[in-house]
Order: sequence, then C-alpha cells, then structure tokens
Amino acid sequence: MKRVLYPGSFDPFTNGHMDLVERAAQLFDQVIVAVAINLEKHPMFDLVEREKIIEECCRHLHNVQVVSFQGLLVDAMVRLNAQAVLRGLRAFSDFEYELQMALMNRSLRAECETIFMMPTANNSFVSSRMVKEVACLGGDFAQYVPAPVVKAVRRKLAENNRGHES
Ligand code: PNS
Repeated sequence: MKRVLYPGSFDPFTNGHMDLVERAAQLFDQVIVAVAINLEKHPMFDLVEREKIIEECCRHLHNVQVVSFQGLLVDAMVRLNAQAVLRGLRAFSDFEYELQMALMNRSLRAECETIFMMPTANNSFVSSRMVKEVACLGGDFAQYVPAPVVKAVRRKLAENNRGHES
C-alpha cells in the first residue's frame, strides 16, 4: 500500500492543489491531504473549515482522505503511516523553500522522502495568497478554485463584512 501525504495550508484550496491531488490519486494507492498550521501565515479559514471544504472538493476521488494536523510533519507521517510527502512545484521561485523544507524533514527523520509534482501550466501561476487578494478586492476569483471553495470564500467575505458593519 503506497500512501502519500500531501501537506499544506490550503487557505484556500485552489485548482492547482486539486490538479495535484487528482494526479497523485492515479499514482498512489492512497493520498492523504493533510491540512496544517503554517506559523508564518494568518489563515482565512480555521483547520476544521479547511478540512471540510477540501473533503467536498475531493469527494469524487475514492482513494483520497483529508485530515488536519498540528505539530511536526514528520510525526504526522509516522502516525498516518505514509511513505512519502508530496509537494507541488509551480515555478523556480518555489524551489528554494521546498528544498529547505524537504531537507529539514529528512534531517528530522531520515526516512522522510519528498516527491515533487508540477500542476498543469494553466494552474502554475495560481496561489492561495493571490486568490485571497483577488477575492477580498472584489475580483473574479471563481476561475481559480473548485466550486466548494467559491461558496466558502463568498460566505466568509460576507461574514467579515457583516462583522465590520456591526
Ligand atoms: O502550504 P504551505 O503553507 O506552504 O505548507 C507548509 C507546511 C504546512 C507543509 C509546513 O509549514 C509544515 O510542514 N508545517 C508543519 C510543521 C513542521 O513540520 N515544520 C518543520 C518542517 S519545515
């Protein structure tokens, strides 16, 4: 059973993430999308919200499971019995951060292999950060994210607007 862990903040989950999960689901027996806390980021959605949204996005894939975790990725890997970590590489600019992370994880746990996959070219410029920026500024973000994310982001923006009015 080859099980790969796909960790990320996924705030929010984009078409690029979806693309990678669909590709990985064809290569591995099981893909575990692991929603994590990135201490350097301030998320729009909490962990449970992100987990639920991604579950909805991946409902059509029978070998994909969605979890969230706190703490170290290498510990989550052991708990979830995953043999490798999957990360997406969009552009050369991603490489330095990804290389550091892969080597840090391997240094923490020698067995931790990281596999990189590229999304399709038309998803390779999409990032969660930009999707949030476009959405918050009233742009058409729906073309960059799966339908459940469109709904969730619109709901979150409406909630935030109500919060600011009261
Ligand atoms: O989508 P992101 O924000 O680039 O994902 C980064 C993430 C969540 C995979 C990374 O921050 C992570 O692995 N966090 C868990 C804590 C950890 O293991 N840190 C040490 C390795 S850098």
